[in-house]
Amino acid sequence: MPQFYQRHLLRLLDFSPNEIAALLALSAKLKKDKKSGAEQPLLSGKNIALIFEKDSTRTRCAFEVAAFDQGARVTYLGPSGSQIGHKESIKDTARVLGRMYDGIQYRGFGQKIVETLAEFSGVPVWNGLTDEFHPTQILADLLTMQEHSPQKSLSQVKFAYLGDARNNMGNSLLEGAALMGMDIRLVAPKACWPQESLVESCQAIAKKTGARITLTESVAQGVEGVDYLYTDVWVSMGEPKEVWKERIALLKPYQVNQAMIELTHNPQVKFLHCLPAFHDDQTVMGKQMAEQYGLHGGMEVTDDVFESVHSVVFDQAENRMHTIKAVMVATLVHSY
Ligand code: CP
Ligand code: NVA
Repeated sequence: MPQFYQRHLLRLLDFSPNEIAALLALSAKLKKDKKSGAEQPLLSGKNIALIFEKDSTRTRCAFEVAAFDQGARVTYLGPSGSQIGHKESIKDTARVLGRMYDGIQYRGFGQKIVETLAEFSGVPVWNGLTDEFHPTQILADLLTMQEHSPQKSLSQVKFAYLGDARNNMGNSLLEGAALMGMDIRLVAPKACWPQESLVESCQAIAKKTGARITLTESVAQGVEGVDYLYTDVWVSMGEPKEVWKERIALLKPYQVNQAMIELTHNPQVKFLHCLPAFHDDQTVMGKQMAEQYGLHGGMEVTDDVFESVHSVVFDQAENRMHTIKAVMVATLVHSY
């Protein structure tokens, strides 16, 4: 039985394939317990700090609801209103919060920051998204794929990730797929491929797990026969707005649309997105983008695909909560 007590989750490579499988099994159990009214509060008396230096809907709500369901209390520390970063270092913040809280979630910028929190806080630290990685998202994605491919093990699942494969999602999906022995195709222009050092580390893992890793610029080759098409925003939080124009020009051929669904030659193909998504012009930013770049009806994904039977994005969003709950329970409770 894997031991998670008092461990951090900074990136997926912190865990073995067996450990990830155990976290997914615990997530599925907690999900079932909640739905049947059998959930037991295993985190009573625990206090959780939630540091958010970037915006969030899903991750914040998932941590809060998961904590409340399990009897824990949370403190939200937003981008302003605390001393973090501007008046107090991360190292000092870690030592202060570690004296008061049982666990700390961090969403923000460099991976180094979350590593420093982990090094100095003395309590489990969970990465709720950095520029480089988004590990809790991938746990939800893997659970969603398990649920929607019940006849397969994860090692039999094939998926293509399209768009910015150099961002936190591309990097973390690559790690997750390598660990779980999956067939992953990163379908993107070379300029948006993950760093070579990460690809090499994941190729080495793939040799042991049987994962198949393909990096390709060819949409037709990349999406052929996949079970899932996955995409993310083309410009991530924290990137300067000047990159939009160039990124849109670069990634337009990688938009997930009806033609791409057909290119998979799999009528049952499912669509995944970590969200939020630019799929219509109903939001302030979506409207601005649509007008400025003529992208009506969607950017990284078209509205018709987003709203189609292929799309399982809201199952994925719900699973953020169940998987984050599993991470907190596993790392904060000695024998759960
Ligand atoms: N997918 C995800 O992390 O969403 P939020 O930015 O809303 O937390
Ligand atoms: N790559 C996106 C993911 C959002 C959940 C970002 O970092 O903004």
